[in-house]
Amino acid sequence: VSQELKGRPAQLQWSGRLTFILAATGSAVGLGNIWKFPYITGEHGGGAFVLVYLACILVIGLPLLMAEVMIGRRGKQNPANSMANLAREFKVSRHWRLLGWLGVVSGFLILSFYTVVAGWAISYIFISAQGVFDGASGEQVGAHFGQLLADPWALIFWGTLVLMITLLVVARGVKQGLEKAVNAMMPGLFVLLLVLVGYAMTTGYFMQGLNFLFNPDFSKLSGTSILVALGHAFFTLSIAGGGMMTYGSYLPQKVSIAKTAITIGILDTLVALLAGMVIFPLVFANGLEPGSGPGLLFVTLPIAFGQMPFGGLFGMIFFIMLSVAALTSAISLIEPAVAWMTERYRISRFKACLGSGLVMWVLSLGTVFSFNIWERHTLFGKTFFGVLDYLTSGWFLPLGGLFIAIFAGRVMSRKATEEELGKGLGYRLWYYTIRYVSPVAIVVMFLNAIGVIG
Ligand code: PFF
Ligand code: NA
Repeated sequence: VSQELKGRPAQLQWSGRLTFILAATGSAVGLGNIWKFPYITGEHGGGAFVLVYLACILVIGLPLLMAEVMIGRRGKQNPANSMANLAREFKVSRHWRLLGWLGVVSGFLILSFYTVVAGWAISYIFISAQGVFDGASGEQVGAHFGQLLADPWALIFWGTLVLMITLLVVARGVKQGLEKAVNAMMPGLFVLLLVLVGYAMTTGYFMQGLNFLFNPDFSKLSGTSILVALGHAFFTLSIAGGGMMTYGSYLPQKVSIAKTAITIGILDTLVALLAGMVIFPLVFANGLEPGSGPGLLFVTLPIAFGQMPFGGLFGMIFFIMLSVAALTSAISLIEPAVAWMTERYRISRFKACLGSGLVMWVLSLGTVFSFNIWERHTLFGKTFFGVLDYLTSGWFLPLGGLFIAIFAGRVMSRKATEEELGKGLGYRLWYYTIRYVSPVAIVVMFLNAIGVIG
């Protein structure tokens, strides 16, 4: 057994099952659930899209989440090295390392726009606290959001703040930084979402919102919608972004991967559906457009807060929690690159953070400018941000997922995967899904998206 396969020293492992669940749930639950899920559901017509998305979570997402964590735990290093270690263990080409690389790169690209949007959330903490939204109309809230987007300096300021906080946490390492950052904020976010659902019920448009969210109209589905739903299933569960593989490498051997993955999947789905149940009633109550795009969350929720008693306070708390949820995901998006730099070049975490942070910052300017000075510079009708989002969620993550499925189900020995996941009915269900159902489903959706079938 080579040096790498012996396992990480204790200071490089999670303290236990609960910390891993918190960290991995922290990675999963983020802007994807509360910001992205509602707006892409709005853009793709509602119910039918949601149904495809839920099917993707169940049939493709969950088995792959288990596979990715498993690969990380057995490979025991950053994604690129883990893949190299396993390629050696199972005597296949070292080029499988590229799969680890794809994860690191995808995570990096996603983070470059993630920090910008998380910056919107942070700025809304202060705006809410100042009472700007108190009693504001839909138009006023919309105008405010428009002003924020039009100001590159503001976006740079808030985005940089997010990046700096993220790097500060990551630089402190697994035990000191990552573990402490994932704490009681998650339950808090959950409770506040429930409060907001309660408010949405009072708008008189709750049923209309539910109807939009859950009543499928399949004529609204296109090949693109299906690819977006698939991509979002990956995005929301943090699959193939390198983070789950890296977090898996810090996971002690005794923790059950299957149980934790299912917990993560349920929590993540619940938060997304709750967010939808808050946002769509508000959209209809205020005559807004469900397909209005990335601003949806930021122009609907403030209206609700503006009409509630103590709305400024609730708004402030909500955006604090959204920022924390985004932060715990951001951490998992840069951790793979940092782990790779420290393990490959033997430099300190601090230096690795500085280096990757600098590159990240420059890259994030592209997203900042997508909303103002580069708004009209498009490629295939997409801004810089649009291209990044489309490339990562639409292609890199599903492609990474496909190869993770092939590696876990076909390259790794059955004995090895049984060692990691445990025997029994659950294992067999996972085994056949990851061997046959998940890869075939991903390929079919790709073919559908490029117009070959369907
Ligand atoms: N899952 C996160 C969200 O839903 O906001 C985003 C994310 C984190 C994607 C980590 C990919 C990743 F590797
Ligand atoms: Na998510």
